[in-house]
Amino acid sequence: MDTKASDLANVASTGPYDSLREFIAALESHGYLLRIPKINQDKYEATALAYSLVDRKGYNTAPAMLFERVKVDGEWMDGPVLGNPYGPWQAEALGFGVETITDDYIAMYRAAMEKIDSMCTRGIPKIDPNPIERAVSPCKENVQLGDDVDILKFPWLKTNPADGGRYINCGSVIIEDAELGRNVGTYRCQVKGPNKIGINPEPFQHGWTMLMNAKKRGEESVKAAVVIGADPIVFAMSSSKVAGAGQDELAIAGGFRGKAVDVVKCETSDILVPAHAEIIIEGEIPLDGDFEEEGPFGEMYGYLGLKKDENFFMNITAVTHRTNPWVINNYTGVMRGFLTSPMSATAQKRFKMMVPGLQAMHIPTDATGYTIISIDKKQAGAGIAAGQIVAGSLSIAKVVIVVDKDVDVLNWTDVMSAVGSRWQPHPGTLIVPQVTGMRLDPSAPVRGMTSKVIIDATRQFPEEGGPDSFPPANRTLLEDMCPEAFELVDGKWDEYGI
Ligand SMILES: Cc1cc2nc3c(=O)[nH]c(=O)nc-3n(C[C@H](O)[C@H](O)[C@H](O)COP(=O)(O)O)c2cc1C
Repeated sequence: MDTKASDLANVASTGPYDSLREFIAALESHGYLLRIPKINQDKYEATALAYSLVDRKGYNTAPAMLFERVKVDGEWMDGPVLGNPYGPWQAEALGFGVETITDDYIAMYRAAMEKIDSMCTRGIPKIDPNPIERAVSPCKENVQLGDDVDILKFPWLKTNPADGGRYINCGSVIIEDAELGRNVGTYRCQVKGPNKIGINPEPFQHGWTMLMNAKKRGEESVKAAVVIGADPIVFAMSSSKVAGAGQDELAIAGGFRGKAVDVVKCETSDILVPAHAEIIIEGEIPLDGDFEEEGPFGEMYGYLGLKKDENFFMNITAVTHRTNPWVINNYTGVMRGFLTSPMSATAQKRFKMMVPGLQAMHIPTDATGYTIISIDKKQAGAGIAAGQIVAGSLSIAKVVIVVDKDVDVLNWTDVMSAVGSRWQPHPGTLIVPQVTGMRLDPSAPVRGMTSKVIIDATRQFPEEGGPDSFPPANRTLLEDMCPEAFELVDGKWDEYGI
């Protein structure tokens, strides 16, 4: 099967993109795609490669991977199977249409956030999806109904040896609710047979709430569609809470794309799905009988999750797909899972209204549990106060590090060096003994509950117990006393042959 970028005529060098394929072609043209003809997942080769790429190339810089053929359960299957499409931070810039792509990955993330910020001046933008004809919808190129359905023929991977089985772990599950409207959420789906998958919305996710509400209303089942390989912005909305409960992820994706998401009606329900996706799995989630076992699965904190005795599942009624469809596998807890800049930019905007002096915010996915904020500190106690607001509002924020505005929250080295040089553990620390936390955090003795810590790594004022005067930083002295030094280096950058 030919998956070369050259096949995709007129691919824009930067986004937004209508399809995953266009985005991958652009990623490849910028040098961020690794093509591998064959990979043996019966030996967990793809997973070990994912770890090794992150070890050697870095979490935010490791390239996307495209495997042309994959060995699964003793059989060589045609792919491609895509991994880490949203890994390198350049993907954020490409996905949101930053014009100039460079190897400065932190600058690329910041540029994507600025672009998104500029789209949100009057709130989160929305453009309703645009229904298109079935005949021009790539996701309808092939259709299987009823007894013809067999999802085992697609190369879904078993990612980790202790996982409960093969998983569709990059599917956007679409459910429509009488009260809340449409929800699009990425929930892992365990492959249970040719026409059955598990559906795993964690408790209190929007999809979970809709299913539980339908069950309470006495409904016997809920129709759903699982979308594999939607465009990057639809997937980003599906994988984050940029859309609140009752808000339509597809309309918000349209807003960020600057043009509507093309949608088409399912074969066996009225659900509208992104028409340029790779694969659509349609079905019904029963609510009137027993739930089923699901998992375990290697989860986002990098540890094996708990096996669930009772979880939702879906009986499949139809599969539609592009010809030679692309499968995407997420190396959960190893590599980045989606374009996170809209989540970061909108969270930052929201928290700026709540936290006095907040400058920037980062929720790193390579160390789940941390949240870093920078503030323009004007008064004693502002660091701990800011940290408390963030810790109190974000369940993922178990360790909140507060830094001064001159520290780059996107740069771990800067942040850690601020902790090492500006933080005094006493009195610059606040421990919150017990609040609600992330259910997947393996350190919690009671799942869903956690203690939290706020580390105030801002320069401490004397009245906070800090030194009488804080010495200037060496870099600041260089910038102040010899401002032309950096200009000199910038001007000669190409000459150095770096
Ligand atoms: C690759 C990937 C897999 C995910 N798997 C799950 C999952 O199995 N269950 C879950 O509740 N959330 C999962 N998430 C996180 C949710 O997609 C995210 O919390 C999203 O906001 C859920 O949609 P909702 O807000 O509409 O409920 C996953 C995210 C990604 C990127």
